[in-house]
Formats: sequence, structure tokens, C-alpha cells
Amino acid sequence: MRRASAIAAVAAASLALAGCSGGSGDGGGSDGGKQVEVFTWWAAGTELEALQALVGVFEEQHPDIKFVNAAVAGGAGSAAKDLLQTRLQAGEPPDTFQAHAGMELQDYIKAGQIQDISNLYDEFGLRDAFPDQLIDLLTVDGAIYSIPSNIHRANVVWANPQVLKDSGIDPADVPTDIDDWISDLKKVKEAGYTPLSIAAPWTQVQLLETVLLADLGAEGYKGLWDGSTDWSSSEVTEALKDFETLMGLTNGDRDGLDWPGATQMIIEGTAAYNVMGDWALAAFNEADMKRGEGFIDFPVPGTADTFDFLADSFTMPVDVPHPEGAKAWLKTVGSLEGQVAFNKVKGSIPARTDIDPEQFSEYQQSAIKSYAEDTIVPSLAHGAAVSVGTLNDITAAVSKFTAGGSDLATLQEELGTAVNG
Ligand code: GAL
Repeated sequence: MRRASAIAAVAAASLALAGCSGGSGDGGGSDGGKQVEVFTWWAAGTELEALQALVGVFEEQHPDIKFVNAAVAGGAGSAAKDLLQTRLQAGEPPDTFQAHAGMELQDYIKAGQIQDISNLYDEFGLRDAFPDQLIDLLTVDGAIYSIPSNIHRANVVWANPQVLKDSGIDPADVPTDIDDWISDLKKVKEAGYTPLSIAAPWTQVQLLETVLLADLGAEGYKGLWDGSTDWSSSEVTEALKDFETLMGLTNGDRDGLDWPGATQMIIEGTAAYNVMGDWALAAFNEADMKRGEGFIDFPVPGTADTFDFLADSFTMPVDVPHPEGAKAWLKTVGSLEGQVAFNKVKGSIPARTDIDPEQFSEYQQSAIKSYAEDTIVPSLAHGAAVSVGTLNDITAAVSKFTAGGSDLATLQEELGTAVNG
């Protein structure tokens, strides 16, 4: 959906509203007031707290607009995305929804489900606020379809230093590749702890992406998504073997847990390591654990100097029921105040570049530095590298394999088919 100009975009949006919202529009909700229904998967725990921090800023900036929370529980949108699709296809969109920058966003763009909001970038003065690389991911054919709220890093290991010490491992001696790490994980197993905590299939896909990144390197990993790395190569087979070994060192109850359950095992000291995006930082903060004391973090071995990237962003659906509410929400999401309040709690870093890093935790300062200096690669599990359909096929193949329903050769073949058809 290309628009000739910002003015045309606004006009088209208002026409769409008049035609499809039954004339309710802003101010015409059942309670007669202005509102915005915000759809995310930040439904509980620290994710809900971070959302609430953003809502706090929204309510200060737009006291006349009611925030309606349409969050659907399930890490990484594991349940939310299907429900969202049902609503969009039924012509019942929320006023705005969370979507990852990159291929996931392109799904909604291609389906004609979200609007070009580049006019809001001009109106809110956002064109220079975000890094160019991020704007590129949000842009299609010159149009921009969402406003980012944050940037998360996916290739992080969180570890309990006491469990490492009890296992005869010096927490300062960080493993530098997957082989080194596997030998440490085996020591943890010997000591009677769970070596690597993990949860539902999407977290297993995230582990897989970081192992592919570690073993293939940034270029090889990126090539998996653009066709330049062969999925049937022996290098991929070796990486999948590492994945298999790592999965063999995880907790048996994994499929019944979501990410907070796996992080909790590090907090409680029943497991040594967990690979999780830096939303996990929020869980350590909430448990009052200090970096370097209660927990340590380091890039997944073999991925130092690489930032496995994802960004949440907010959209304006076609036929948005409350355009004024949606616009107000998007303004808060993009604002300096909104980004600082939200990210302080969320564990991610602001997408805006005009923030003062000193306002953020030591870990977040390290992420800000890494994002600025390291090689950036797109996250598989979080919508940056592949479309929702491809990710669904990958998740099905991984979960079949980890549940014992297929062998490594089948996994490799199914992953190749999922990506290349
Ligand atoms: C990601 C999302 C993060 C975090 C995580 C776990 O997809 O981008 O903000 O919510 O899922 O639920």
C-alpha cells in the first residue's frame, strides 16, 4: 500500500475508518469515551510491569484516552499471533498491535493489514530518532509501518555463579565456543544440577538459532535466510549435532514451562545456565539479584561480537477502530519518555539513539555498546529473520525433534524445507 503523500495517507485512513468502523470512531466507544485497545503478549510478570510503565507515561501524556489492555499470554507471542490473525481476518483489528521488525512485519504489510504511518514519523520528529538499520527493517517500498519500542538481544547466556563454583567452574572463565561450553555443562551435570534450563518450543528455537550463529558465524548464519548458506551442508549438520547435545543437557519438564520458569531455575540455583533474550534481565532485577553476584551474563559461546537482534514495534491496522487513540499510543511509544520508562523495566534498550546510557543498568549499557559496535544479525525465533509461516514450520520441526519424534537428518531436511520450500 503505497501512498502518494502523507496527506493522501491521512485522507485514506479517515475514509477507511468512515467506511468500516460502523461510524463509531474515537469518542464513539460503548462508554462514549476515547480509547485505545493495545494488543501484545506482555500479559504477565515483568513483561506486564514493563507495559504498565509505558502505560503510565501514556496516561500522563494523553489523560483523556483510555488504555484498554488486550494482551494475550504466551512468551514470544506463541498464542497471541494466531488470535491476532483471526481478528485481523475477521475485520476486527485492535487499535494497535505488537509486531517484530523484519520479516514478521512484512507478513502484515503484504497481507494489507497495516497502514503506512510514515506521516507520523514526520509529525513526531522520529526520522532521526532511530538507527538507519532499524528504519530499513520497518520500511517497505519507502513506506514505514510501525514505531519501535525497544531492541532486545537474543544471544545471551544467564548463569548462576554459585552453581558454577559448586561444579568446579570459575565463573570468570567464560567458555569461548560451543565445545568448551559443552565440557562445562557436563561438569555441572556431574555436580547434580540441571546444566541448561529451557522451556517451551519457542525457547528451543531460540537456542537453536544461537547455536547456528555460534557454529556458522555471522555471515554463515545470515546466509541461512537469504539462500547463500546451504541447509544440507555438513556445517549445518555439525551445528545441529551441537544442538542435540545441548538439548540432552536440559530439564525434562521444559515443554510445560514458559521462559520465566526456565529463568527461575537460574534464580533459585537449580540450574547453571539459560539462553534467553535480555527480557530475562527483568526477572533477575525483580528477584533483587545483582549482576556479577547473583547472576552473570555473557554472549552465547562463539557469538561474542555479534548482536542477535529483535525489536518490538507497534502498528496502525487498516480500518483501525480508534485512530486518534492509536496515534496517541504510537506517539508515546516513540517518545523519549516512553522509551526510557518502558526499557528500564523490560531489560531491552531503547530504539531511540538520543538516550543517556547512564540512565540504564550496567547490563543494558553493555547491550547499548554491543548494538553500536558489533555485527547485527536477525533473530529467527523473534520475527526478524523469517515470516510467521516459516517460523511456525521451523518450530514444528524443532519440537518434533526435541520430543523424540524425528532424527537429526529429518530435522535438517525439515528445516531446509521450511526455509526454502
Ligand atoms: C519476544 C518479544 C519480547 C519478549 C519475548 C518473550 O518475542 O520481542 O519483547 O516479550 O518475546 O515473551
